[in-house]
Amino acid sequence: MHPILIAPSILSADFAHLADEAASVAAGGADLLHVDVMDGHFVPNLTIGAPVASWLKKNTQLPLDCHLMVENPDLLLADFAKAGTTWLSVHVEACKHLHRTVQNIRALGMKPGVALNPHTPFSAIEPILVDVDFVLVMSVNPGFGGQSFISHVLEKVRQIDAWRKLHKPALFIEIDGGIHNGTIAAARNAGVDWFVAGSAVFGQKDRAAAIASLRAAAND
Ligand code: DX5
Ligand code: ZN
Repeated sequence: MHPILIAPSILSADFAHLADEAASVAAGGADLLHVDVMDGHFVPNLTIGAPVASWLKKNTQLPLDCHLMVENPDLLLADFAKAGTTWLSVHVEACKHLHRTVQNIRALGMKPGVALNPHTPFSAIEPILVDVDFVLVMSVNPGFGGQSFISHVLEKVRQIDAWRKLHKPALFIEIDGGIHNGTIAAARNAGVDWFVAGSAVFGQKDRAAAIASLRAAAND
Protein backbone atom coordinates (compact mmCIF):
# COMPACT_ATOMS: atom_id res chain seq x y z
CA MET A 1 0.00 0.00 0.00
CA HIS A 2 1.17 3.51 -0.77
CA PRO A 3 1.31 6.18 1.95
CA ILE A 4 -1.79 8.25 2.62
CA LEU A 5 -1.85 11.64 0.91
CA ILE A 6 -4.41 14.28 1.83
CA ALA A 7 -5.51 16.61 -0.96
CA PRO A 8 -7.70 19.48 0.29
CA SER A 9 -10.03 20.69 -2.45
CA ILE A 10 -9.80 24.43 -2.98
CA LEU A 11 -13.44 24.33 -4.17
CA SER A 12 -14.55 24.56 -0.53
CA ALA A 13 -12.16 27.40 0.33
CA ASP A 14 -12.91 31.10 0.65
CA PHE A 15 -12.34 32.31 -2.91
CA ALA A 16 -11.68 35.86 -1.76
CA HIS A 17 -8.56 34.63 0.07
CA LEU A 18 -7.21 31.77 -2.01
CA ALA A 19 -3.52 32.29 -1.23
CA ASP A 20 -4.19 32.34 2.52
CA GLU A 21 -6.44 29.30 2.23
CA ALA A 22 -3.76 27.36 0.34
CA ALA A 23 -1.15 28.44 2.89
CA SER A 24 -3.34 27.27 5.77
CA VAL A 25 -3.60 23.72 4.44
CA ALA A 26 0.08 23.61 3.45
CA ALA A 27 1.02 24.62 7.00
CA GLY A 28 -1.57 22.15 8.28
CA GLY A 29 0.14 19.16 6.68
CA ALA A 30 -1.63 18.72 3.32
CA ASP A 31 0.24 16.79 0.64
CA LEU A 32 -1.44 18.04 -2.54
CA LEU A 33 -3.75 20.90 -3.45
CA HIS A 34 -6.80 19.60 -5.34
CA VAL A 35 -8.14 22.05 -7.93
CA ASP A 36 -11.63 21.36 -9.32
CA VAL A 37 -12.10 22.72 -12.82
CA MET A 38 -15.73 22.75 -14.02
CA ASP A 39 -17.09 24.12 -17.28
CA GLY A 40 -20.86 24.18 -16.77
CA HIS A 41 -21.27 21.54 -19.50
CA PHE A 42 -19.70 18.31 -18.33
CA VAL A 43 -21.00 19.16 -14.88
CA PRO A 44 -23.74 21.60 -13.86
CA ASN A 45 -21.38 24.05 -12.21
CA LEU A 46 -18.73 26.53 -13.27
CA THR A 47 -15.55 27.12 -11.28
CA ILE A 48 -12.03 28.16 -12.20
CA GLY A 49 -9.51 27.62 -14.95
CA ALA A 50 -5.79 27.65 -15.60
CA PRO A 51 -5.17 31.33 -14.68
CA VAL A 52 -6.33 30.68 -11.12
CA ALA A 53 -4.32 27.45 -10.97
CA SER A 54 -1.29 29.45 -12.07
CA TRP A 55 -1.78 32.04 -9.29
CA LEU A 56 -2.24 29.24 -6.76
CA LYS A 57 1.00 27.63 -7.91
CA LYS A 58 2.86 30.91 -7.44
CA ASN A 59 1.55 31.12 -3.88
CA THR A 60 2.03 27.58 -2.57
CA GLN A 61 4.67 24.89 -2.40
CA LEU A 62 2.02 22.17 -2.62
CA PRO A 63 1.91 20.20 -5.87
CA LEU A 64 -1.26 20.97 -7.81
CA ASP A 65 -3.65 18.08 -8.43
CA CYS A 66 -5.97 19.47 -11.10
CA HIS A 67 -9.21 17.62 -11.79
CA LEU A 68 -10.75 18.58 -15.13
CA MET A 69 -14.52 18.15 -15.15
CA VAL A 70 -14.92 19.62 -18.62
CA GLU A 71 -15.89 18.67 -22.15
CA ASN A 72 -12.92 18.77 -24.54
CA PRO A 73 -10.17 18.75 -21.92
CA ASP A 74 -7.60 18.63 -24.76
CA LEU A 75 -8.14 22.35 -25.31
CA LEU A 76 -6.92 23.12 -21.77
CA LEU A 77 -3.94 20.80 -21.33
CA ALA A 78 -1.19 23.19 -22.42
CA ASP A 79 -2.52 25.96 -20.17
CA PHE A 80 -2.56 23.67 -17.15
CA ALA A 81 0.98 22.55 -17.92
CA LYS A 82 2.08 26.19 -18.12
CA ALA A 83 0.31 26.86 -14.82
CA GLY A 84 2.64 24.36 -13.14
CA THR A 85 0.27 21.42 -12.64
CA THR A 86 1.90 18.21 -11.39
CA TRP A 87 -1.03 15.75 -11.45
CA LEU A 88 -3.77 16.17 -14.04
CA SER A 89 -6.88 14.02 -14.29
CA VAL A 90 -9.42 13.89 -17.11
CA HIS A 91 -12.75 12.06 -17.11
CA VAL A 92 -13.11 8.90 -19.16
CA GLU A 93 -16.69 10.03 -19.90
CA ALA A 94 -15.43 13.28 -21.49
CA CYS A 95 -12.65 11.95 -23.71
CA LYS A 96 -13.29 10.58 -27.20
CA HIS A 97 -9.62 9.69 -27.63
CA LEU A 98 -8.54 9.08 -24.08
CA HIS A 99 -5.26 7.40 -24.98
CA ARG A 100 -4.22 10.40 -27.06
CA THR A 101 -5.24 12.81 -24.30
CA VAL A 102 -3.24 10.88 -21.72
CA GLN A 103 -0.20 10.86 -23.98
CA ASN A 104 -0.53 14.61 -24.49
CA ILE A 105 -0.68 15.19 -20.73
CA ARG A 106 2.55 13.26 -20.29
CA ALA A 107 4.24 14.93 -23.25
CA LEU A 108 3.47 18.29 -21.62
CA GLY A 109 5.37 17.20 -18.49
CA MET A 110 2.41 16.41 -16.22
CA LYS A 111 1.44 13.10 -14.61
CA PRO A 112 -1.82 11.81 -16.12
CA GLY A 113 -4.76 10.38 -14.23
CA VAL A 114 -8.12 9.05 -15.34
CA ALA A 115 -11.25 10.01 -13.41
CA LEU A 116 -14.52 8.07 -13.46
CA ASN A 117 -18.03 8.89 -12.32
CA PRO A 118 -19.87 6.76 -9.75
CA HIS A 119 -21.90 4.89 -12.40
CA THR A 120 -18.97 4.21 -14.73
CA PRO A 121 -17.72 0.63 -14.47
CA PHE A 122 -14.14 -0.52 -13.91
CA SER A 123 -14.15 -2.05 -17.40
CA ALA A 124 -14.32 1.48 -18.92
CA ILE A 125 -10.88 2.39 -17.54
CA GLU A 126 -9.10 -0.96 -17.47
CA PRO A 127 -7.48 -0.57 -20.93
CA ILE A 128 -5.99 2.84 -20.03
CA LEU A 129 -4.51 1.86 -16.65
CA VAL A 130 -1.14 0.90 -18.13
CA ASP A 131 -0.81 4.48 -19.42
CA VAL A 132 -1.82 6.55 -16.37
CA ASP A 133 -0.14 7.27 -13.04
CA PHE A 134 -3.33 7.45 -11.01
CA VAL A 135 -7.06 6.78 -11.03
CA LEU A 136 -9.50 9.26 -9.50
CA VAL A 137 -12.61 7.44 -8.32
CA MET A 138 -15.55 9.82 -7.88
CA SER A 139 -17.50 8.95 -4.75
CA VAL A 140 -20.12 11.64 -5.44
CA ASN A 141 -21.56 12.86 -8.72
CA PRO A 142 -19.13 15.56 -9.81
CA GLY A 143 -20.15 19.20 -9.64
CA PHE A 144 -20.35 20.24 -6.02
CA GLY A 145 -18.61 19.96 -2.69
CA GLY A 146 -20.37 18.80 0.46
CA GLN A 147 -22.31 15.84 -1.00
CA SER A 148 -22.79 12.43 0.64
CA PHE A 149 -20.36 9.59 0.04
CA ILE A 150 -21.61 6.86 -2.33
CA SER A 151 -20.23 3.78 -0.62
CA HIS A 152 -20.77 1.26 -3.43
CA VAL A 153 -17.91 2.87 -5.42
CA LEU A 154 -15.60 1.06 -2.98
CA GLU A 155 -16.31 -2.13 -4.89
CA LYS A 156 -14.70 -0.41 -7.89
CA VAL A 157 -11.74 0.66 -5.76
CA ARG A 158 -11.26 -2.99 -4.81
CA GLN A 159 -11.30 -3.97 -8.49
CA ILE A 160 -8.66 -1.34 -9.33
CA ASP A 161 -6.58 -2.40 -6.33
CA ALA A 162 -6.74 -6.05 -7.38
CA TRP A 163 -5.73 -5.08 -10.94
CA ARG A 164 -2.75 -3.03 -9.81
CA LYS A 165 -1.49 -5.77 -7.50
CA LEU A 166 -1.26 -8.02 -10.55
CA HIS A 167 -0.09 -5.54 -13.18
CA LYS A 168 1.15 -2.20 -11.86
CA PRO A 169 1.82 -1.70 -8.14
CA ALA A 170 3.00 1.88 -8.79
CA LEU A 171 -0.51 3.02 -9.75
CA PHE A 172 -2.11 5.41 -7.23
CA ILE A 173 -5.81 5.37 -6.34
CA GLU A 174 -7.42 8.68 -5.39
CA ILE A 175 -10.96 9.10 -4.10
CA ASP A 176 -12.98 12.29 -4.40
CA GLY A 177 -16.24 13.27 -2.76
CA GLY A 178 -17.80 12.93 0.67
CA ILE A 179 -14.57 12.02 2.44
CA HIS A 180 -14.64 12.80 6.16
CA ASN A 181 -13.72 11.09 9.43
CA GLY A 182 -16.64 8.68 9.08
CA THR A 183 -15.90 7.49 5.52
CA ILE A 184 -12.13 7.62 5.13
CA ALA A 185 -11.28 4.32 6.86
CA ALA A 186 -13.55 2.27 4.59
CA ALA A 187 -11.93 3.91 1.56
CA ARG A 188 -8.43 3.25 2.91
CA ASN A 189 -9.32 -0.37 3.61
CA ALA A 190 -10.59 -0.77 0.03
CA GLY A 191 -7.19 0.39 -1.29
CA VAL A 192 -7.29 4.19 -1.63
CA ASP A 193 -4.00 6.13 -1.31
CA TRP A 194 -4.99 9.75 -1.92
CA PHE A 195 -7.96 11.41 -0.29
CA VAL A 196 -9.54 14.57 -1.63
CA ALA A 197 -11.32 16.46 1.13
CA GLY A 198 -13.12 19.72 0.51
CA SER A 199 -15.65 20.51 3.21
CA ALA A 200 -13.96 18.19 5.75
CA VAL A 201 -10.87 20.44 5.67
CA PHE A 202 -11.98 23.93 4.60
CA GLY A 203 -15.18 23.66 6.63
CA GLN A 204 -13.07 23.54 9.80
CA LYS A 205 -11.31 26.57 11.27
CA ASP A 206 -8.29 24.56 12.37
CA ARG A 207 -6.99 23.02 9.15
CA ALA A 208 -4.06 21.23 10.82
CA ALA A 209 -6.46 19.51 13.23
CA ALA A 210 -8.84 18.61 10.39
CA ILE A 211 -6.04 17.04 8.33
CA ALA A 212 -4.56 15.24 11.34
CA SER A 213 -7.92 13.78 12.30
CA LEU A 214 -8.49 12.55 8.73
CA ARG A 215 -5.12 10.80 8.80
CA ALA A 216 -5.88 9.26 12.18
CA ALA A 217 -9.35 8.15 11.07
CA ALA A 218 -7.93 6.61 7.87
CA ASN A 219 -5.81 4.27 9.96
CA ASP A 220 -8.68 3.13 12.18
C1 DX5 B 1 -16.79 17.41 -6.73
C2 DX5 B 1 -15.32 17.70 -6.68
C3 DX5 B 1 -14.71 17.42 -5.37
C4 DX5 B 1 -15.25 18.25 -4.22
C5 DX5 B 1 -15.16 17.40 -2.98
O1 DX5 B 1 -17.21 17.45 -8.04
O2 DX5 B 1 -14.62 16.94 -7.64
O3 DX5 B 1 -13.30 17.54 -5.42
O4 DX5 B 1 -14.54 19.44 -4.02
O5 DX5 B 1 -15.80 18.07 -1.93
P1 DX5 B 1 -16.20 17.31 -0.58
O6 DX5 B 1 -14.94 16.75 0.00
O7 DX5 B 1 -16.82 18.39 0.24
O8 DX5 B 1 -17.16 16.22 -0.97
ZN1 ZN C 1 -12.33 16.93 -7.54
